[in-house]
Amino acid sequence: MIRLNEKEFTEIVAYMREFYGINLNKKKTLIECRLTKELQRRGLSSFGEYLELLKGDRTGKTAEGIVNQLTTNYTYFMREPVHFTILKEKIFPELFREIQHGICNIWCAGCSTGEECYTLAMLLQDYKEEAGQIPSVRMQATDISREVLEKAQKGVYPLRELERLPAVWQKKYCRVADKKVFQVNESLKYNIMFRYQNLMQTFPASEKYHVILCRNVMIYFDKDARKALIEKLENSLHPGGYLLIGHAELLSRDETRLEQTAPAVYRKQRRGNGEKNINC
Ligand SMILES: C[S@@+](CC[C@H](N)C(=O)[O-])C[C@H]1O[C@@H](n2cnc3c(N)ncnc32)[C@H](O)[C@@H]1O
Repeated sequence: MIRLNEKEFTEIVAYMREFYGINLNKKKTLIECRLTKELQRRGLSSFGEYLELLKGDRTGKTAEGIVNQLTTNYTYFMREPVHFTILKEKIFPELFREIQHGICNIWCAGCSTGEECYTLAMLLQDYKEEAGQIPSVRMQATDISREVLEKAQKGVYPLRELERLPAVWQKKYCRVADKKVFQVNESLKYNIMFRYQNLMQTFPASEKYHVILCRNVMIYFDKDARKALIEKLENSLHPGGYLLIGHAELLSRDETRLEQTAPAVYRKQRRGNGEKNINC
């Protein structure tokens, strides 16, 4: 394994914090383990050489490599299932009643390899069949790792992951491709747009969402990046819209203007009388 000296370690920590919000200041060994292969692949023998390459690279390829290696992309189908129950029983009925003929915009921010947004797509498909009619739903699924976005787009997963899904969904929405992998149905992908978005950058002001899932992302952020992200997510919600975060990253009262409606579920206040709320 190639070792980091203190200067190199400080530089990599500062780089990941400044550009991606990710706090790695206690993760020296993790950085060494995850980046050694990347260095060897490029024929480099020290992190100093790698940092020089990173600074001089105008193509963005070196940055892409470091992000692919240093992000934690752990995820699985039906993660934190209570959120899916709340969406089904409380959030969707209420939102869909209010939106009626408009479009419901959902954002999975930090979607990793896609299990979260496909779980949501399965839930929505079932909901639609039961309810008869629901508004059109558009889902954005974003991440900073292009490697995980590519996997998410393919929707192919190891067979052992299938067990996490209810038996009915396994049959209805998945196709076992061979002894090792299964694929989610193409129909689930129609309303999902996968794209690159760094949550540390400015979000397009015109994009507003009725539901944002940003779960288990800011757990890796430092305090300032977390604060800035919460504010931007708040601004990206329609009045009356919902933010769902991971149960390990709960917001304190002084961190947000959103109202907590359930564990790890927050809602943006509606506007006063006469102003447009959710259905804008
Ligand atoms: C642990 S996964 C969580 C996946 C899924 N939301 C879940 O709860 O299972 C965190 C994801 O956030 C992404 N991420 C980390 N920092 C980010 C940033 N600054 N902008 C966008 N995505 C980021 C990582 O690449 C990773 O795929």
